[in-house]
Amino acid sequence: MRLDVVSIFPEYLAPLDLSLIGKARREGLIDLKVHDLRDFAHDKHRTVDDSPYGGGAGMVMKPGPWSEALEHVLAQEDSPSGDEPRKVPTLIIPGPGGEPFTQQIARELADEPWLAFACGRYEGIDERVYEWAGERMPVRVLSLGDYVLNGGEVAVLAMVEAVARLLPGVIGNAESLVEESHEDGLLEYPVYTKPAEWDGRAVPDVLLGGNHRAIADWRHEQRVQRTAERRPDLLPPTAAASALSDLEERVATPADAPDLQVLTRACWAPEFARYGMFGAGEEDLETVRDGIQEWDTRVWRKDGQLLASVRVRSHPTQEATWQIGRLMVAPYLQGRGLGRELLGYAESLASEGVRTFWLNTGAKSTENLRMYKKAGYKVRPGEGEFPGTVDLTKRQVTTSLPE
Ligand code: ADE
Repeated sequence: MRLDVVSIFPEYLAPLDLSLIGKARREGLIDLKVHDLRDFAHDKHRTVDDSPYGGGAGMVMKPGPWSEALEHVLAQEDSPSGDEPRKVPTLIIPGPGGEPFTQQIARELADEPWLAFACGRYEGIDERVYEWAGERMPVRVLSLGDYVLNGGEVAVLAMVEAVARLLPGVIGNAESLVEESHEDGLLEYPVYTKPAEWDGRAVPDVLLGGNHRAIADWRHEQRVQRTAERRPDLLPPTAAASALSDLEERVATPADAPDLQVLTRACWAPEFARYGMFGAGEEDLETVRDGIQEWDTRVWRKDGQLLASVRVRSHPTQEATWQIGRLMVAPYLQGRGLGRELLGYAESLASEGVRTFWLNTGAKSTENLRMYKKAGYKVRPGEGEFPGTVDLTKRQVTTSLPE
């Protein structure tokens, strides 16, 4: 990737010679050139600013040096050939009034072959420079955050680092890019290293156990919890749901089948690691539609998004038994007690005369089993209704008083 930075303080960009970005420059992965804006001012004092029209505090950067500097950058095109359209960089102008710079934008910029950065100082750059530049190359005005820096240089350091580390080969271990904050909309999980106990503080047990599944679950939970605590704005609006009453309940119709199929796949995905198959997550649309006809299926939505579901019916062969199935909560809303609430609700739908609640789950689905047992269910001896599953039952507690 080619990078050109124009600044009145070229030395400010010296840190880009250090660490992984410096190494990437030396290895030729990044071709970065810093240009001094004052080289394009022609008076004795190399003046690049002047007072603002209309009055007001501070100085404004003059348009002339900027257009010359940017022409100079444009003229550095590698190998302009007769027929091909002229190659131009995307020009980034950092400023507190810009679009917020995010990981998504860093990814977009990392796909570009050539970026140029214009570091403003003082009260900013004459507005006509933005128009002039926009007629010659794509221009993006980007802000590092809602605060004011003295100039664009610090922002360029941050943006170049965020973009360059996404380029192939810049970070040795590409895997470390995957589970980072902002990569999938969640903040990073907490990390620990030796010693296992320090200052009377222990590393969480789960990390010492070597159970990769449990570690992955714990880390995911930590990411969701951290994001909810520190950056609730990053979570989808629906993530605010912590009780069924936050959602809209309906009896499912065949029109809900596609969404139910997706939710089922998402909820059954972790089962693959345990059983080598997705179970209910493999059902085709026709089977999902049949299920809606054969059961009383309830769906909970928020802003149109399907977030939870459960289905119930009288057990087809066991008398006075209420069958509960497909208890599902969207994965990113799990761990907030919604499943437990769904279960209680499914039980409350039981018809008169029901004496037993019945459900079925994977024999190795420890989280499900833990929740069902906590809710008073007991695992029936032997294999459950389907291979690799167990059935669980619970006696209906009669609430009516003796006459
Ligand atoms: N220049 C001055 N303040 C800035 C900010 N917040 N982001 C980017 N560039 C800036």
